[in-house]
Amino acid sequence: PVRNPFSFVLFGAGGDLAWRLVVPALFALFRKGHLPERFQLLGVDRVDYDRASFGNHLAQSFGDQTPEAWSAFCEHVDYVNADFLDHAAYGRLDDRLKTGESEFGDQTERVFYLATPPTLFAPIAERLGQAGLAEPRERTRLVVEKPLGRDLASFRTINASLTQSFTEEQVYRIDHFLGKETVQNILALRFANPLFEPVWNRNYIDHVAITVAESLGVENRAGYYEHAGALRDMVQNHLMQLLCLVAMEPPVAYDANDIRNRKMDVMHALRPIVPEHVQELSARGQYGAGWIAGDKVPGYRQEPNVDPDSETETYAALKLHIDNWRWQDVPFYLRTGKRMPAKISEISIRFKPVPHHAFPAWADHENQPVRLTLQIQPDEAIRLRFMVKEPGMQLRLRPADLVFNYADDFRGESPSAYETLLYEVLVGDASLFMRADQVEAAWKLVQPVLDVWAASPASDFPNYAAGSWGPETAEMLTARDSRSWLTPA
Ligand code: BG6
Repeated sequence: PVRNPFSFVLFGAGGDLAWRLVVPALFALFRKGHLPERFQLLGVDRVDYDRASFGNHLAQSFGDQTPEAWSAFCEHVDYVNADFLDHAAYGRLDDRLKTGESEFGDQTERVFYLATPPTLFAPIAERLGQAGLAEPRERTRLVVEKPLGRDLASFRTINASLTQSFTEEQVYRIDHFLGKETVQNILALRFANPLFEPVWNRNYIDHVAITVAESLGVENRAGYYEHAGALRDMVQNHLMQLLCLVAMEPPVAYDANDIRNRKMDVMHALRPIVPEHVQELSARGQYGAGWIAGDKVPGYRQEPNVDPDSETETYAALKLHIDNWRWQDVPFYLRTGKRMPAKISEISIRFKPVPHHAFPAWADHENQPVRLTLQIQPDEAIRLRFMVKEPGMQLRLRPADLVFNYADDFRGESPSAYETLLYEVLVGDASLFMRADQVEAAWKLVQPVLDVWAASPASDFPNYAAGSWGPETAEMLTARDSRSWLTPA
């Protein structure tokens, strides 16, 4: 469990993120006995709450399932009504923190969690610094969510102002994919087993395909999404993290800097996408009306608050190369989209065919039938597909699957990604968070694609129907190499 007493200061406490994800995760940690006896959750926002009405507001996300635990949790909750830009508010915040911490002792830690629009990250961090709240360094942390900028230049600006008041070690940049159990399991699978690592390279792997598909559309987030699009929203962060975990070298120790250094090596080795190659190495799409699970759904341009001529992509795919000893000539295909047939995220490692076919050809199967699939959602699973002989007099081969399903082996609730991440913040382990150099490298990689796309109108939008697997151009990305994405299982 978390040992030291702490204050958890939640900026944007009245907002959606706080209510939907952050507080429920903190409460789950409390319910499961992971939190110390002495802690406080201090909500900060402009909404006119007091301690009781803030508690009531939060209670909406819990129903009545655990009323006793909830009221015990509420004993730790308090609220400060403040304008984030008002310098004087930070003095009041300091006073409130000290009052709450009067019995906490000198090991008390502080976490400032910015569940606010990203435009407020820099001003809040700056004011915290000016009010002396960024210290003591070793016991104070700042947590920020994506999006960290909307391009390389804006990322640098935001990051510079965060790191003016806080040191890099104090800043925890959330990519919630890293909190998912199966994502963490990628390293366990690779480096805690003798079996996979020997074949985890260009000698045996033909290519890697990463799919993060969602069936939801833009929902009520057009205000943000119209200015983001799939490349910024998903590829620059979540898909890059998945790629790094699949491609990185083994760390010497499971330690924040070691792991992040190994990921940085991957980022360094990623072949830059020069503007002249954007067309050939990427695909973008936007969904039109269609059907999902028997329901008719509107096209992106018909969604609330979306420009009827919007050129925002709701689908993005890239073909990447990693120029190093392990991965030379092994393409990594990445794709993500909204309004696809189902919510499925998976990493598919496709092995090379055997060098010599002693058996009658299995022409009816794909070229690379042997593959390892790491399924991240909805059901967390690992699936190894390999060739077997069909029973019978004839020598016929077909693929079969060896499946490991989390739910079958581990009963009971897995922690949510946010639970895991908050826990790690509270114990001060940054392994599952993004270091600035990595975020910057990811922006650098996608920047030419963003630029070329922005400069050339997407005249074919909408180019995929809701409920389909994306645009034709994305199929071409793999088909040109005589490969395919493969529909997830
Ligand atoms: C977020 C994106 O980071 O991740 C959303 O902003 C996306 O657009 C979400 O829907 C997907 O996360 P998850 O955990 O539901 O797969």
